[in-house]
Amino acid sequence: MSPGPNPPAKTILPGEKPKGESLLSRRDFVRNTVRLAVAGAILPGALSQVLPAIAPNALAGSGSGPVIRRDPKTNAKIPVTVADLKPQPSNQPFVGEWNFLPAIVYMVKIEILKASSAARGINTAQFAVPHPSDPAYAILVYRGKCKHLGCTVGWNGLFGASKDIEDYNGDGINEGRILCPCHQGQYDIHNLARNVPGTPPPAPLDIIRMRIGSFSDPDGKIQAASNAILGAEILKQGAYRDADLDGKAGKTAFALGSQAAKEA
Ligand code: FES
Repeated sequence: MSPGPNPPAKTILPGEKPKGESLLSRRDFVRNTVRLAVAGAILPGALSQVLPAIAPNALAGSGSGPVIRRDPKTNAKIPVTVADLKPQPSNQPFVGEWNFLPAIVYMVKIEILKASSAARGINTAQFAVPHPSDPAYAILVYRGKCKHLGCTVGWNGLFGASKDIEDYNGDGINEGRILCPCHQGQYDIHNLARNVPGTPPPAPLDIIRMRIGSFSDPDGKIQAASNAILGAEILKQGAYRDADLDGKAGKTAFALGSQAAKEA
């Protein structure tokens, strides 16, 4: 069968856009925008899962070693030390980098950890180590990668500790809460970084077992420091109380640093 006659060509006036073309462009635009949005939401989480496995030493603070920060001018690796941490009331945790991923380093009043241990019935201080010069404080470290879609978590010092208990030590000052900027996921930093019920994350943040000590790099790539925050290993938390080793052993009383990293 021979093809029929071509349809008559449409006259396009100056300044007028062909109809089919503009509809297609809009469709393409919407499709591409959706693709970009999905990629933007998924890729950071996926990469943060994959990269440490394929290139654990590509970024600093890898493996056993100090939590680091970067020199803003030279990008050189600098160990995070106790001097970088702020006590309450400006108890903003320090966000450093360890094992390729963000690490939340937090200086916390021991009385708050004591009160949270009493309220929760588990030793919430088992991974916290004593501050080397201020006996009222301890230091603990969590991995700062949100368990929802992998964003780097942040902090809101105006929030209470969690939804059910906001002020563990009853001093009238809100404890502050880890807050993820992506979808408002929340975690109680005073209770083994438990995910706050009703917010998107399905599990608590992972714990970085650590100690405080001197650091020097035999290769000279990272500058030496005393009172450095030295990470040893990541304890993955898949569900509330996963990392509660004291609780599993049947000891639920407060004991500072009972599961902290030992000196190598
Ligand atoms: S990535 Fe969604 S709440 Fe953190």
